[in-house]
Amino acid sequence: MKASEASRSPGTPAEKKISIVGTGYVGLSTGVGFARKGHTVICVDIDEKKIEKINRGEPPIYEPGMADGLKEAVAAGRLSATADLKTAIMDSDVTFISVPTPQSEYGSADLSYIRKAAEDIGSALRGKDGYHVVVVKSTVVPGTTEDIVLPELEKGSGRKAGDGFGLCMNPEFLREGRALEDFLKPDRIVIGSMDSRAGDAVEGVYSGFGAPVLRTAIKTAEMIKYASNALLATKISFSNEIGNVCKELGIDVYDVMKGVGMDARLSPSFLQAGSGFGGSCFPKDVAAIAAKARELGQETKILNAVLDVNKGQRQKLVGLLEKRADGLAGKKIAVLGLAFKPDSDDVREAPSIDIIGMLAERGARVSAYDPQAMHAMKSFHPGIEYCDKPADCLKAADACLILTDWSEFKELSDKDFDAMNTKLIIEGRKVLNPESVKCFEGICWP
Ligand SMILES: NC(=O)c1ccc[n+]([C@@H]2O[C@H](COP(=O)([O-])OP(=O)(O)OC[C@H]3O[C@@H](n4cnc5c(N)ncnc54)[C@H](O)[C@@H]3O)[C@@H](O)[C@H]2O)c1
Repeated sequence: MKASEASRSPGTPAEKKISIVGTGYVGLSTGVGFARKGHTVICVDIDEKKIEKINRGEPPIYEPGMADGLKEAVAAGRLSATADLKTAIMDSDVTFISVPTPQSEYGSADLSYIRKAAEDIGSALRGKDGYHVVVVKSTVVPGTTEDIVLPELEKGSGRKAGDGFGLCMNPEFLREGRALEDFLKPDRIVIGSMDSRAGDAVEGVYSGFGAPVLRTAIKTAEMIKYASNALLATKISFSNEIGNVCKELGIDVYDVMKGVGMDARLSPSFLQAGSGFGGSCFPKDVAAIAAKARELGQETKILNAVLDVNKGQRQKLVGLLEKRADGLAGKKIAVLGLAFKPDSDDVREAPSIDIIGMLAERGARVSAYDPQAMHAMKSFHPGIEYCDKPADCLKAADACLILTDWSEFKELSDKDFDAMNTKLIIEGRKVLNPESVKCFEGICWP
């Protein structure tokens, strides 16, 4: 058996040649996932260092399963990376766009990366014969694919959408920390298409996935992604608001939400209270759809409150610490966990960034430990102490904040905290084992 056959999953669909423009968390997971399904993938990026790493089989990001998945895909000849977009377009039938759509200074989505990618793909399509499908996978505000991507593609390629090329919008719902697994086992695949030919081509790419497929108009697919993220973020802020009341009443909000989540009309997911959501999606996506609504003359009272409650949790945690520590000036605060969630090295919009900033403003010295995210945090807070293990971080600390629920923190016991000056431990995420650590409290739990 050849290596390429060995890496294919059973029930593999007919092989397609796929290019992916933008090889970050989404693009790389998509690439490795499609390669595992038997397709041949060319990843395109503007970051040469990323390209070199990917071609060596080394993932530029941390995601569980990614190191093995990428190595296997590269070794099997099913995945390669390049900066040469033109060749990638020539050598593929379908192109997924997964470039960033960050928040602009006005809260709306910055669509400049997507516009540039569409412009470049359009030019690359100019010399190509035959039908090619372009798929927007980046999260884009409703209207972007048809009002920005389509005209750029038509202008660059000199072809008309429909005949010359197909256009789809296929939002991605993966979670960082389990990106590859989520990509390979999605709850649903949403395909918004300009016509059935383009939609059928994209559905064909996903034919081995065994997930329900929802075919929609392009704008609807764009909105499904925002509505999903906004609702998930709402669940978290709702849980935080209830958690803040629980804290005052001496109730553990986790016991409450366990009871709430057992209702068949709800689900237990995303009801975990704490120091608020972060990451590259929820904060900017909620802000972007609220900004779009404002542009349309619509008020989004719920979404505005979701963001306010979220920001407030960070202040609440620092306020609680300040009260318990009787001031923070000159104190050493150990921060365990920097990534916005466990099993990720991503610190984009992580609560830890603001919280460390607030600690520094109050004159505290911060020592920090995270199994994966210290490198990324150094660009936000270069001046704090970074420690190789929790023990170094906790040594002579006056207090400890736990900001990410990494499973290794579950193993901590009183013995680990004995090295602190004062055993003041506050959780922003519920992770410590009360059997092993006797005295600590949570932001929204006693
Ligand atoms: N990260 C997530 O959990 C997640 C989940 C679902 C959807 N999304 C959406 O997917 C999109 C990508 O997110 P991400 O987290 O993967 O971003 P990322 O920042 O991790 O990666 C984006 C990549 O695109 C590259 N890039 C930028 N401009 C380019 C260009 N013109 N040509 C080629 N490459 C280019 C960058 O160098 C980078 O490697 C965003 O719209 C995001 O909202 C993200």
